[in-house]
Amino acid sequence: MSLSAYDVIFYLKELTGEKILILERTGLKVTEALERLERFVSKCKKCPLSKTRTNVVFGSGNPLTGFLIVGEAPGQEEDKRGLPFVGRAGKKLDEIMRRAGIRREGVYITNTIKCRPPMNRDPEENELKSCFPYLEKQIEILKPRVIVALGRYASYVLTGKKISVKRERGIVYEYGNSKVVITIHPSRVLKNPEEEENLYNDLVLAKKVYLSGHP
Ligand code: URA
Ligand code: SF4
Repeated sequence: MSLSAYDVIFYLKELTGEKILILERTGLKVTEALERLERFVSKCKKCPLSKTRTNVVFGSGNPLTGFLIVGEAPGQEEDKRGLPFVGRAGKKLDEIMRRAGIRREGVYITNTIKCRPPMNRDPEENELKSCFPYLEKQIEILKPRVIVALGRYASYVLTGKKISVKRERGIVYEYGNSKVVITIHPSRVLKNPEEEENLYNDLVLAKKVYLSGHP
């Protein structure tokens, strides 16, 4: 199945609410490839987090718009439900996205690490290394125009550098053919509400980068 111009407009409308024409995508293939990968990852035992998780949190959302958001790792609620950003940080993210004119239904969201670290501790180097091939593959399938990296772990795996998010937020990096916008994690905004405008501004920037790629 190839998408008609009508479908394409629809997907962009899903993301931003605006009507602009772009992309040629084969929707069915993307969905199928993603489902196949998800079935595989849901049984993964490559790192010790497989022993403590309830569910693998593979990712969810719209795989066709080319707008990907990458968080850190599932928290308690995400682990319980098998879905990304459905807890407090997720609500905050939804709220800021809405304000930036980006619809949750229009983006695909996943994490750097697919299983919850016990007590939400920071991911360890071996876990980041074991799990990265899955994100890599997701990116290969989704071919995102823009990737928003939330926080230091997503920024680390996507840029290959241990960067200071505080210093480098808002900088646009490249990962393959995708632009990567580095920004702070919504959990940080929950602890430091004065940081909310930074996350908001970076999401506005990501949307601008996304739209500027269109003819
Ligand atoms: N924080 C994350 O980084 N990811 C989630 O899915 C939830 C909270
Ligand atoms: Fe596998 Fe990643 Fe889960 Fe580790 S965190 S068990 S590598 S899916």
